[in-house]
Amino acid sequence: MNTSTIENKESLGTYENGILYPSPVMLDLNDLKKVYPTPKGDYVVLEHLNLQIMKEEFVTIIGHSGCGKTTMLSMIAGLNAISGGNISVLGNPVKGPGPDRGVIFQAPSLMPWMTALQNVMLGVNQVFPHATKQQRKDIAKYYLHKVGLDGAFDKKAQELSQGMQQRVGIARAFAIKPQVLLLDEPFGMLDSLTRGELQDILIEIWNKEKITAVMITHDVDEAIFLADRVVMMTSGPRAKIGDILNIDFERPRTRKSVLEQDDYYAYRKHLIDFLEH
Ligand SMILES: Nc1ncnc2c1ncn2[C@@H]1O[C@H](COP(=O)(O)OP(=O)(O)O)[C@@H](O)[C@H]1O
Ligand SMILES: [Mg+2]
Repeated sequence: MNTSTIENKESLGTYENGILYPSPVMLDLNDLKKVYPTPKGDYVVLEHLNLQIMKEEFVTIIGHSGCGKTTMLSMIAGLNAISGGNISVLGNPVKGPGPDRGVIFQAPSLMPWMTALQNVMLGVNQVFPHATKQQRKDIAKYYLHKVGLDGAFDKKAQELSQGMQQRVGIARAFAIKPQVLLLDEPFGMLDSLTRGELQDILIEIWNKEKITAVMITHDVDEAIFLADRVVMMTSGPRAKIGDILNIDFERPRTRKSVLEQDDYYAYRKHLIDFLEH
């Protein structure tokens, strides 16, 4: 056992009759604070923000534009410094980016001159340096296949439509086999048909890989359809978690089955009421 596991012993879970029951908490945001210095003085974006996300949970985040959603997600990703409080992944404090957390942004940010396969391979090569070249290729191809890009392995990213580029982004994020997937309005720029297709692909892979997902969206229906819980953030400055809605629909879900549930409209109203206040 190395020191970091000893240090974080409680977070590993609880012992009962000598059996370790793993802690269900994957992500812990504890009294989180973020301050941006501005020419007019400090701007406190987030303060006293507390949130626990369980293993294998799918959480969606909604809140008004500018309230600090991207700030929070980029702090979890380790791409944005923490001003106060802390974030831990399975009990380990976040100190920077790492392969345990995959990120999908609104714009897929691929290397335009590289092929779809090469773009996915970039991440895979970094995370699995000891695998053979063939094994790494197989991983990349498997996820490109999963997102429906069988015929496009060798197409340059710049030749792909926006929807196809975001498919590559999803494949790239899953291919590094993260424990947590962080998504910042990943389908915001896509037409509704493509958005629906990619939601289905995302849920299918998430379900198969048993990872934890945290996704920001401004679409209330998308937030309900995908989530186990919808987390509502208050408006800034000093934004924090305002409310949390449990979505109790069975999985697998289809858009049609969800629309047929009586609770759907109550959930929707709850979220819209929150946003309109
Ligand atoms: N690097 C930065 N420096 C100063 N202010 C910033 C910076 N990044 C974001 N902000 C401000 O912090 C607030 C929250 O931004 P953001 O996290 O992008 O919100 P959201 O994703 O909810 O729209 C906004 O008022 C934004 O202008
Ligand atoms: Mg944002």
